[in-house]
Amino acid sequence: LESGPDKIDYVFKVVVIGDSAVGKTQLLSRFAKNEFCLDSKSTIGVEFQTRTVNINSKFVKAQIWDTAGQERGALGAMLVYDVTKRQSFDHVARWVEELRAHADNSIVIALIGNKADLADLRTVPTEDAVEFAENQGLYFFETSALSGENVDTAFRKLLEEIY
Ligand code: GTP
Repeated sequence: LESGPDKIDYVFKVVVIGDSAVGKTQLLSRFAKNEFCLDSKSTIGVEFQTRTVNINSKFVKAQIWDTAGQERGALGAMLVYDVTKRQSFDHVARWVEELRAHADNSIVIALIGNKADLADLRTVPTEDAVEFAENQGLYFFETSALSGENVDTAFRKLLEEIY
């Protein structure tokens, strides 16, 4: 964790969006605080968390918003679905439209298949998401906010691409 630098070189606004209960809040708390909560309640109201990471020797503060409706001014988006909930993946195209309508044209989007730890319950094959991401020009990662698998990698990739 690279916390508490005296000097911040950049602040990047990022939004985490997707259907309810896909794990947006837990991905954010895993990245920002390295915490996870199994019985997290639905997010109400506007919330953001921050974490500062070092990219190319610069301190980049990620200000990450855990709610839809905060797309204006966002440089990056994590578009999250749940690999065990087909419907959450079927809605991803609508979330992309939402971003294209309300965010900057240059917004960097990462498609995130979360809950990869629930392998036995998977209903969305990796290949389906890879194909969608390629067609739409999105980065793609499968993550687990529970185990922490790929969470840092995904956020860092997004921040590097913004940078
Ligand atoms: P809303 O606030 O309603 O939009 O939901 P959300 O997308 O923020 O989901 P949240 O982070 O609250 O997670 C919903 C539920 O899924 C909680 O019970 C979490 O503990 C669980 N969960 C989140 N991420 C994972 C994961 O990677 N693996 C597993 N097994 N459970 C997860």
